[in-house]
Amino acid sequence: MAVSLTINGKVHDVDLPDNVPLLWVLRDAIGLTGTKFGCGVAACGACTVQIDGQAVRSCQVALADVWGEVTTIEGLGQPGNLAVIQQAWIDHQVAQCGYCQSGQIIESPQPCWPKPLPPRMTISTPPCRATCAAAEPIRASVPRSRTRRCV
Ligand code: FES
Repeated sequence: MAVSLTINGKVHDVDLPDNVPLLWVLRDAIGLTGTKFGCGVAACGACTVQIDGQAVRSCQVALADVWGEVTTIEGLGQPGNLAVIQQAWIDHQVAQCGYCQSGQIIESPQPCWPKPLPPRMTISTPPCRATCAAAEPIRASVPRSRTRRCV
């Protein structure tokens, strides 16, 4: 299936089977490796991206089912121009092993992102959250990103 996907504001032409998960399209075909593979069953959140501003598990979305513009961790702020949530992550020293961090960040509310996120959105709680020392800093970071305004 040949399709054009808009990812982080840039159009990419891909020709892959319909049922290839978006995760592998991003990582293997496009080379955006910031989106991680963890569980493959929609439980961990490491593969989370946004489609038209809605957080989705890219391991569960087939190429044929991608319905809008995809945003990955690479599409957020850049060094020197971080998204609010990325700066909050740094300020709260969130990262521990870091593997789930891109998924956590992309799933967090991001008021500076052009498209508003659904109000019901909350951060995921993957299984390793029970013991990960990043859990509390993550909880501290997310409310800040909800209240700060874009400049
Ligand atoms: S790899 Fe998709 S939710 Fe874990």
